[in-house]
Amino acid sequence: MSFDTARRMEALPFSGIRVMMERANRMQREGKDIIHMEIGRPDFDTPEVIKKAAFSSLEKGNVFYTSNYGTPELRAAIAEKLTRENGIDYSPSEVLVTIGVGEGTYAAIAAFCNEGDEILVPNPVWLNYIHVPNFFKVVPVAYDLLEENDYQIDAEEIRSKITDKTRMMVINSPGNPTGAVQTRETLEKLAALAEEYNLIVISDEIYEKLVYGDTKHVSFASLPGMKERTITLNGFSKCYSMTGWRLGYAAAPESMIQGMVRVHQYINTCASSFVQEAGITALREAEPDVQVMVKEYERRRNYTVKELNSMDGVSCRMPGGAFYIFVNIKELGKTSAEVADYLLDHAHVATVPGTAFGEGGEGYIRLSYATAYEQIVEAMSRMRKAFAELKA
Ligand SMILES: Cc1ncc(COP(=O)(O)O)c(C=O)c1O
Repeated sequence: MSFDTARRMEALPFSGIRVMMERANRMQREGKDIIHMEIGRPDFDTPEVIKKAAFSSLEKGNVFYTSNYGTPELRAAIAEKLTRENGIDYSPSEVLVTIGVGEGTYAAIAAFCNEGDEILVPNPVWLNYIHVPNFFKVVPVAYDLLEENDYQIDAEEIRSKITDKTRMMVINSPGNPTGAVQTRETLEKLAALAEEYNLIVISDEIYEKLVYGDTKHVSFASLPGMKERTITLNGFSKCYSMTGWRLGYAAAPESMIQGMVRVHQYINTCASSFVQEAGITALREAEPDVQVMVKEYERRRNYTVKELNSMDGVSCRMPGGAFYIFVNIKELGKTSAEVADYLLDHAHVATVPGTAFGEGGEGYIRLSYATAYEQIVEAMSRMRKAFAELKA
């Protein structure tokens, strides 16, 4: 016997990244030597100091529900962090602890968008920003991130897409899948538009600490007048290598937090008690560990970009942040899905077709360098050979 899913489930397809990952894993189980460059998760263990904080929290018996909003101590530590590192003055009552940015996205859209409202989202994008709006019958309106603009957001294009239904604008910097970091100048133009059209802004800053060289991350809410209309979403998954811990937060004016907590309380009640306690340690004590990871990512990025740009038929920009490279494969004359399949079958290197991030990803594949350096070296050698054979 089987039951049909509800009609609203049509808006929730399986993710293209998962599909690729599962195929790569299946080949690996069959004995193939697969190199994983498809996964958007750090290959580092969580820093020891954070793990110890979780163990000790459990030993103390910190095993019960916390406040729906998160513990007062973690909310205070997050507010403190936002003031210290991001230059935004938040109080603990303006913070909601979530089960990752994934939940924050859902809660923000559920709480503040009505059916038929429009939400401006990047193209290409982390697809939650398409599927979650669709689930709530909110209309995602794509704005382009173009390679020729170094993936900077074009404020004039955004203006041309604003209608009287536009309610929200999503900004993700550093960005997935391009690795682009929006400049202060770009963000200032968007701030002017947000003000002019009275938009709510979701600023997804989950990769904020993963920026390289002279690149600087600017928090959107730190721009004059923007705190009042911004929901900053952030979390511990990427920068602290804590993807499995499921911890994140939203920072926004208290009235907006009050809206989001009502969604959160009926799904999750609260984030895990001992994970929240470990989160405080992450924010206060793990910066040296983060910097070690950032340095290693930068080494991998520099190497991989140089290798890719010396191969036949492909090219890429130097991304300022995150741990992704968006590789232009247009010269190969194949779709991004064909190229990703070809690399997996012939080079045993798993990547993600750009189209897994929306139409704007056609002509690109995404590589993640959150994989050991030696593995990347081997992957580059295999890809060089595979592309040469494809062109021959
Ligand atoms: C832009 C972006 N936001 C959020 C997430 C997920 O964050 P979390 O693990 O906190 O749910 C990802 C994961 O790939 C991402 O790329």
